[in-house]
Amino acid sequence: MSHFSYQNGVLCVENTALADIAGRFGTPTYIYSKATLVENYSAYANACKQNDRNHNSALICYSVKSNSNLAVLNLLGRLGSGFDIVSGGELLRVIAAGGDPGKVIFSGVGKTRDEMKLALSHDILCFNVESVPELHRLNQVAGEMGKQASVSLRVNPNVDAKTHPYISTGLKENKFGVAYEDALSAYRTAAALPHLTVTGIDCHIGSQLLDDAPLLEALDKVIDLIDRLAAENIQLHHLDIGGGIGITYDDERPVAIGDYLTRLFARIDAWRTAKYQGTPIKVMFEPGRSIVGNAGVLLTEIQYLKHGATKNFAVVDAAMNDLMRPAMYEAWHRVQPVMERDVPARTYDVVGPVCESGDWLARARALAIEQGDLLAIMSAGAYGMTMASNYNTRGRAAEVMVDGGRVHLIRKREAAHDLFALESILP
Ligand code: LLP
Repeated sequence: MSHFSYQNGVLCVENTALADIAGRFGTPTYIYSKATLVENYSAYANACKQNDRNHNSALICYSVKSNSNLAVLNLLGRLGSGFDIVSGGELLRVIAAGGDPGKVIFSGVGKTRDEMKLALSHDILCFNVESVPELHRLNQVAGEMGKQASVSLRVNPNVDAKTHPYISTGLKENKFGVAYEDALSAYRTAAALPHLTVTGIDCHIGSQLLDDAPLLEALDKVIDLIDRLAAENIQLHHLDIGGGIGITYDDERPVAIGDYLTRLFARIDAWRTAKYQGTPIKVMFEPGRSIVGNAGVLLTEIQYLKHGATKNFAVVDAAMNDLMRPAMYEAWHRVQPVMERDVPARTYDVVGPVCESGDWLARARALAIEQGDLLAIMSAGAYGMTMASNYNTRGRAAEVMVDGGRVHLIRKREAAHDLFALESILP
């Protein structure tokens, strides 16, 4: 059930009218539903509980890049979540939010020495290493600190995720991971380095996947590698299949989390039973969008309606700097008026005030609206605020989290002076 719905003609999140939030906190504002976040996380957690025969050792490592607000991280951490990070900054966020560094995995192709040091000093669970040079650097940094680094290699299974090319990551031509053919030799290298402990394997083939078939295909390839490594006496203790399950933006019907996990664990069980006398393996996930995507909307106010000869524009106070996805991927987000109105609908492009033709949030939408009305840009919880910028010296939006009838400000709106506070002029 969606926690964003019309009640008596006004759009509400849980028990709170969006218009009230605009009145209190202004616009543009990102609004998250706590109940939705809890439900989405629980879909993973419950499916793990039901299907994981390995004494519930499965770990959901929420992908911090999808939405890194401290309140979101804190909520998920309290539910038991681990975290998938891609920078030192994300690690510090997790810690500031009370997350457990012992449940943090560190992905990304470009980890710096300082980031490695920071992560080692906090004893994170594992480094998801993406290249052989990275193995050598990590070994050196760990050695200097007198530490052992746990490593997993991100293998690139060369599976077509059948999603937008910008968010597909598991194909040969992508920069991510170690090529499937090179994985065995990379593992041999890792196993021989004194300050690394090889613990697992991971992959992530892409984002906004509607079907789990490519993920299960990737799983089969990962399983095959684990068997080949075992034959060389390199034993892996965890298998991380990444994130990637999509959400409904329009009329997509993504696979249900429970169905996907049931199939995934069934394959893993059958394999462990057949080949390892049932010895379990720890299973990990890195979901982002499927947890937070539909838990958030971007609330914006219409500044002007421009009716032209060929097009009508609704100029709103949110822009591409607030929500990059349409400009960057031509992503489609539903636009819902916050108040249902009895005026004839017209077709509008919903655009922001930024000086770029690419500054649009939605195109050719039939909307019954008037100047001054509020619009909700739906399904904006993932890769919305985290990708926001200050282009045109626009402060980033406020963020609030709704919990039933209560509204919590979880990030203040940036003021102009915040934007140039770190700058200085010549003497
Ligand atoms: N793990 C790794 C290593 C990743 O690179 C990503 C996302 C995830 C997990 C989480 O994937 P998810 O469950 O959210 O699909 N900005 C784009 C999406 C980029 C995804 C990048 N990697 C968008 O707005 O659609």
